[in-house]
Amino acid sequence: MRKMIVAGNWKMNKTNTEAVEIVSKLNELIADVKGVEVIIGPPFTALSDVIKVAGKVKVAAQNMHWEEKGAFTGEVSPIMFHDLGVEYVILGHSERRAYFGETNEMINKKIKSALAHGLKPILCVGEKLEDRENGNTENVVEDHIKGGLEGISKEEFANVVIAYEPVWAIGTGKTATPEQAEEVHAFIRKLLTELFDAEIAENTSILYGGSVKPANSKELISKENIDGGLVGGASLKAEDFSIIVKSVL
Ligand code: PGA
Repeated sequence: MRKMIVAGNWKMNKTNTEAVEIVSKLNELIADVKGVEVIIGPPFTALSDVIKVAGKVKVAAQNMHWEEKGAFTGEVSPIMFHDLGVEYVILGHSERRAYFGETNEMINKKIKSALAHGLKPILCVGEKLEDRENGNTENVVEDHIKGGLEGISKEEFANVVIAYEPVWAIGTGKTATPEQAEEVHAFIRKLLTELFDAEIAENTSILYGGSVKPANSKELISKENIDGGLVGGASLKAEDFSIIVKSVL
């Protein structure tokens, strides 16, 4: 049985004080929820204090360098996250790929390093609008999956979560229809069967991301191959996010 997961990606939003407040409130709102892993990815500056109040919420970093330490000004290493009690790390987000020049090769190094240091990567993949319009969705997703996961063993992959996030749906209010999303999720699961095996593919949580909100989450997550969501904007309010979490049940 694969895990249902609802993860919030806060991006560059919320101060430490605000983050602690929201996560404390979220914990109260989801106190009775069982059977869904709830993850919040606050900015680095809030990680330490959020972890102290996290309760049943797991905490993710939004990015990470692959090296353990050294002269990499402004970067944060897997050892530092692990020491804080961070459990997940979002890698390969389309904003990292677009604005910070992250390539599949860099993302692959980060995934390997995260796994080697006891962190669970959430690998983000997804096509741009022009890719979809040119009929290249599957090629791009395949490239992101194969590039990101190169050299990862079956055992290691058991700790990886995949997030399908069509770039045209991120922060735009345009959600993929449940059918469009399901089609790509099924394609990803087929790819994972080829790369690893059917059992591993069956057990992998594949999250959908891109304008997920309380009004559309239930319909998306009810699809067979959609095992939860990676939520940006709607994860910034504890009430909205808790509704999305509960829509999985
Ligand atoms: P959004 O962002 O929910 O605001 O579209 C999703 C993401 O970038 O992970």
